[in-house]
Amino acid sequence: MLSWIAALLTGILTAHLAQRLCFPYFWKDALYLMKVIRYGARLEIYKRTSLIVTIVDRFVQQAQRFPEKPFVIFEGVTYTYGDLEARSNRVARLFQDTVKKGDTVALLMNNEPDFISVWFGFCKLGCALAFLNTNIKSRSLLHCFNCCGAKQLVVGADLLDNLEDILPSLQEDNITVWSLGHGNSHPGVHSLLDKIEKSSQEPIAAKRRSISCLKTPTLYIFTSGTTGLPKAAVITHLQSLKAAGGFWAYGGTEKDVIYTPLPLYHSAASLVGIGGTIELGATCILKKKFSASQFWNDCRKYNVTIFQYIGELCRYLCNQPMGENEKDHKVHMGVGNGLRQDVWREFLQRFGEIRMCEIYGSTEGNLCFMNHIGKIGAVGRSNFFYKLIFKYDLVKYDLLRDEPVRDHNGFCQRVQKGETGLLLSKICSQSPFFGYAGSKQLTEKKILRDVFVKGDAYFNTGDLMAEDED
Ligand SMILES: *[C@@H]1O[C@H](CO)[C@@H](O)[C@H](O)[C@H]1NC(C)=O
Ligand SMILES: *[C@@H]1O[C@H](CO)[C@@H](O)[C@H](O)[C@H]1NC(C)=O
Repeated sequence: MLSWIAALLTGILTAHLAQRLCFPYFWKDALYLMKVIRYGARLEIYKRTSLIVTIVDRFVQQAQRFPEKPFVIFEGVTYTYGDLEARSNRVARLFQDTVKKGDTVALLMNNEPDFISVWFGFCKLGCALAFLNTNIKSRSLLHCFNCCGAKQLVVGADLLDNLEDILPSLQEDNITVWSLGHGNSHPGVHSLLDKIEKSSQEPIAAKRRSISCLKTPTLYIFTSGTTGLPKAAVITHLQSLKAAGGFWAYGGTEKDVIYTPLPLYHSAASLVGIGGTIELGATCILKKKFSASQFWNDCRKYNVTIFQYIGELCRYLCNQPMGENEKDHKVHMGVGNGLRQDVWREFLQRFGEIRMCEIYGSTEGNLCFMNHIGKIGAVGRSNFFYKLIFKYDLVKYDLLRDEPVRDHNGFCQRVQKGETGLLLSKICSQSPFFGYAGSKQLTEKKILRDVFVKGDAYFNTGDLMAEDED
């Protein structure tokens, strides 16, 4: 009898050890995959039933659930879910007869709560928004209008001067310019704040914003090309919903306080940050601009639990002079991308055990990796099952000729494990690529055809990567 029990215990122990040795990430992988599958199933239901709950629908739901809950805190002022729901209704009411469903409206604003009011206000009218990068000027800015066909431009009061030299061209093209200021500071520019304040906060019927297809564009986000003019990546509801699942997939909850010092006109802050905050029903501390010297004070003041980063941001924090009690804060997670190994190690050493969660994925790309095991220096974790869901490959790349290596049949070759290759992601119905607005040519340039067989198509990420044993 005793020997039986001993044998059984040994068996269990061996199995446990084998799992720890051979599959050290088994449970982390299983949990993560469950989440990916659960989220995917939700999107699949949207596709099949056409009953789509977009980010704005989700926001309206949360505002009904807890109108008094802080949604955004900006420069010490709290805006509840209810506040921004009402304010975005005012924007929608103001423009309900000016714009049509399907129109595009351009937004040139720095981070502030009204960025979100205007964004959601137009979404409630069924419009798509084009987020313009506030650093670009003149010719590049005009080019952005041509890409997305916007006929209205909303500009932050602090950015009106950026427009001075192109105002006449905008007027020639019949683009109406609205400034988020009070008076008429520039000829031909309409003031918006006074009108928003007078407008009704009655909600617009949900039918006006309803969509029947997840592939309807909702945003245009401009990616700076390494050469030439900015490109307008088409962001559909499908992508915006996927991005909003980021914090959730990493274990975020509605109790979290999320710190967003990145510009809202990029997808990291708008889609992952604001979208993710709404998905959780959490609170976002929005910063106008990142400040390394204010960072930890802000985190302590607002009890921040999650922050968004790009790699350089963590480097700036490490370069700050040492302070007292640097580990005294409630931050337990950072979500972002581009954190280098050396900075990552230094950051943890100095500021304590913070789980750094890398997300790999370009604004326009159709592939995403998440480093859910927290391996220092890795952009993501993949395994056999992940590869069943996301079809990607690393292929041999000729650095001198700056193109993938093709064999005598004209096909690409997969690299060996550990070897560096060009990351390609298969374009298919689960992982569509929506390309760039207003340019078939640019879109085609990101697609690689006849990769492994005649007629296949892959999104060329342009990134060289390697996969190690993990
Ligand atoms: C602008 O509007 C005027 C008057 O409606 C029209 O004549 C003109 O063709 C428009 N210009 C452009 C570039 O659409
Ligand atoms: C932060 O947490 C502390 C302790 O839990 C609490 O006393 C304080 O009011 C919180 N501050 C904010 C801004 O929520």
